[in-house]
Amino acid sequence: MAFVRWRLGLLVCTTILVHLVESESTTPASQTNVQYNATWESLDSRPLPQWYDEAKIGIFLHWGVFSVPSFGSEWFWINWKENMSKYVEFMDNNYPPGYTYQDFARDFTAEFYNPDDWAELFQSSGAKYVVLTSKHHEGYTLWPSAVSFSWNSVDVGPHRDLLGELANSIRSKTDLKFGVYHSLMDWFHPLYLRDKFTLFTEQMFVKQKSIPELHELVNAYNPEVIWSDGDWEAPDSYWTAKEFLAWLYNDSPVKDTVVVNDRWGSGIPCKHGGYYTCTDRYNPGVLIEHKWENCMTLDKASWGYRRNAKLSDYLTTAELVQEVVETVSCGGNILINVGPTKDGIIAPIFEERLRDLGSWLKVNGEAIYSSKPWTFQNDTITSGVW
Ligand SMILES: *[C@@H]1O[C@H](CO)[C@@H](O)[C@H](O)[C@H]1NC(C)=O
Ligand SMILES: *[C@@H]1O[C@H](CO)[C@@H](O)[C@H](O)[C@H]1NC(C)=O
Ligand SMILES: *[C@@H]1O[C@H](CO)[C@@H](O)[C@H](O)[C@H]1NC(C)=O
Repeated sequence: MAFVRWRLGLLVCTTILVHLVESESTTPASQTNVQYNATWESLDSRPLPQWYDEAKIGIFLHWGVFSVPSFGSEWFWINWKENMSKYVEFMDNNYPPGYTYQDFARDFTAEFYNPDDWAELFQSSGAKYVVLTSKHHEGYTLWPSAVSFSWNSVDVGPHRDLLGELANSIRSKTDLKFGVYHSLMDWFHPLYLRDKFTLFTEQMFVKQKSIPELHELVNAYNPEVIWSDGDWEAPDSYWTAKEFLAWLYNDSPVKDTVVVNDRWGSGIPCKHGGYYTCTDRYNPGVLIEHKWENCMTLDKASWGYRRNAKLSDYLTTAELVQEVVETVSCGGNILINVGPTKDGIIAPIFEERLRDLGSWLKVNGEAIYSSKPWTFQNDTITSGVW
């Protein structure tokens, strides 16, 4: 424990140096009069809204029907359907023959979901934004989407607009920004499978599902982050990503404040879009000029909740603080994931980690929020000091 304290003490000194040495940024605020064209050259020229770089720390939430089996990971459905033995055995041992993934949805009850409590926890953690899985690759939407009939949280499961309730609580109880994760693809949607069969020369799915969902999300909930994912099987032209972003930046209700990531089609991540996420848990360990984000998860093996996780599967508070400091020193933001349970609880182990981070930030936050990377990112003699 003494060792940990000493190490964290050094981390504090290094990052305070970072904060004091660099001069104020001259990043221009969003230019409201600019009209962006549907080309990457034009879209990439949009300055990232300043709030995002200043925020540094966000909370990521993976919540959906996969939270019901809460076994393996949020990729439960496809891993099972592709006959990964661990998942097949889990189903054979615990569920009757013929049980479908859709059958899990009725047990997504969320009876203890209190979004005000969640909002208070995220505020206490010191995070400045929240990103909720509005829809993961399973296709189930956490809001009453008109294009996800009978496969959304109002029609089946909790019978509540889980997303809308969190957006309201975050906005009314905290000063955090509210954002959404959205998977462009649905693994098993018939229209998606059909488009895939045509090698994505047809666009039935994207026109009737993905893009209408994104418009619903933006118009109904005004998210200030759109964290796109599930893009990799098809090119950006299939997803009509550039056209969507031009609308988002020019005409949407969040055009001046919204930030997006880079997962907008195969070959696009780490090259185009808003901030770079490149790969999951991206942490280059060196200064990156383009704004980037390290999305990582406190359960090292899963983003969705796992009932059978062991204590050693979770990052310790010291490991979390180390990851935060290293990321911020190299110009990144960190998006810290926790998986809520099917009944709407954020497990006490996650709560403890988040509140510990908040205590650390109460003392050291001046070296984190709104800081700019210094010339050097880590100590030349002492390893692990950033
Ligand atoms: C959009 O395209 C027009 C015509 O090519 C060009 O004049 C304008 O500068 C472009 N706008 C942006 C923001 O790239
Ligand atoms: C998985 O196993 C089932 C039953 O043996 C089979 O019908 C199905 O085709 C398999 N799926 C894949 C993707 O291999
Ligand atoms: C800084 O961190 C990087 C990445 O972890 C490492 O490769 C490098 O050796 C470190 N530099 C020093 C001077 O410790």
